Amino acid sequence: MQREQWNSRVGFILAAVGSAIGLGNIWRFPYMAYENGGGAFFIPYLFAMLSAGIPFMIMEFSLGHKLRGAAPKVFAKLGGKLEWLGWFQVFIAAVIGVYYVAVIAWAMSYLCFSFDQSWGDDPNAFFFNEYLQLGQNSPTHLGNFQSHIIFPMVIAWTITSLAVFTGVKAGIERASKVMMPLLALMVLVIIGRVIFLPGAMEGLNYMFEPDFSKLLDAKVWSAAYGQIFFSLSVGFAIMLAYSSYLPDKSDISNNAFMTVLINCGFSITAGILIFGILGYMAQEQAKPITEVVSSGVGLAFVTLPAAINLLPLPYIMGPLLFLALVVAGLSSHISIVEAVISAIIDKLNWPRKKAASIVCGGGFLISMAFATNGGLLLLDLVDYFINNIALLTSCLIELLIITWLFKVADVREHVNQFSEVKVGMWFEICLRFISPIMLAIILGNNLLTTLN
Ligand code: PHE
Ligand code: NA
Repeated sequence: MQREQWNSRVGFILAAVGSAIGLGNIWRFPYMAYENGGGAFFIPYLFAMLSAGIPFMIMEFSLGHKLRGAAPKVFAKLGGKLEWLGWFQVFIAAVIGVYYVAVIAWAMSYLCFSFDQSWGDDPNAFFFNEYLQLGQNSPTHLGNFQSHIIFPMVIAWTITSLAVFTGVKAGIERASKVMMPLLALMVLVIIGRVIFLPGAMEGLNYMFEPDFSKLLDAKVWSAAYGQIFFSLSVGFAIMLAYSSYLPDKSDISNNAFMTVLINCGFSITAGILIFGILGYMAQEQAKPITEVVSSGVGLAFVTLPAAINLLPLPYIMGPLLFLALVVAGLSSHISIVEAVISAIIDKLNWPRKKAASIVCGGGFLISMAFATNGGLLLLDLVDYFINNIALLTSCLIELLIITWLFKVADVREHVNQFSEVKVGMWFEICLRFISPIMLAIILGNNLLTTLN
């Protein structure tokens, strides 16, 4: 059976960007920049992007393209004994896939709530005590047995399955071509309004004000590298699968540059959006901005609703904000589910529809665990372990295998075959020395922190 292929270069880049741009760009990056030196954070961030992000992306695109397989097949082709690394990556993808969808489902609920701000005056109590029903005497006007979470979960899985069910071209590529421009448009519309709000500029000042003393702090560099790997979706089977569908003559280096630059550009844009809103909120509530900044689940489901309450035209800004979260999340979810499906198709030769039904069906059932009362706790735990340990371990092993067991010069040669921008020696130096050393330091550091 012939391997499926992307229809166009733009389609491929939009799909790869769709995977990279996710909740992390919106709720993790802005806070991270603020916490780690503000404007000065861009120095380690750019350094991580150039020394690790771009070379890693080029490497994965080139492996998928050359060896024409999802992660397990790629590593099996490199050496029979290495197939397990591919399955380890697929496992990470599957785990992220089942909890990421829970957050998308919450964002879908909040999209509905945002039309009339059903979260009321106390979004914190609403989220924890009512929506997640973690409170002891939670009022149940939202329905029993978390049915309000299960329903959006069904919708999220349905959208993802439709995309992966119909295949690379008709499903994933088409979905990305709708979702990514839509996301860009929504973000621009929101920013266009937000930056003119009183206080917004102060918010941006807080985010971008450089604290150069932080550059001496190893934690800041580790944050930059960690964010780059997670954000670019490299090291856990996704970009290998996506690039395995590239046509024979593809400009690998250019595709990788585009994907990385668009993703990082989006992160900075999202930072402007979030800190514009936070600055406005601080001003309206006459609080210092340090009291309103937040990230992750707290930002999305507590701080943003509180900010929306204060915004002009909340019934427009609210839905736009949550739809942006939903779209950013869904396009990443599609990619992570596809990484699992393509591995199964490669291994068992199943028809796509069969593999997709089983993966999505099973994934849906497992993700129900995150719709229970313990959902948030479990999510935090799994998310911590995956981001701080599993992902970095997988990236490090992949790098060491490719660069020390194989000739990374061969990878470079393959890239340069059809690429307009030829990749030079810097590529090998980054992959052999700089990236693995940085990864090992960060990982060691994370392991120590976890054990303490
Ligand atoms: N890159 C995504 C982000 O920044 C994260 C992600 C994508 C995670 C795909 C898993 C799968 O949010
Ligand atoms: Na990203």
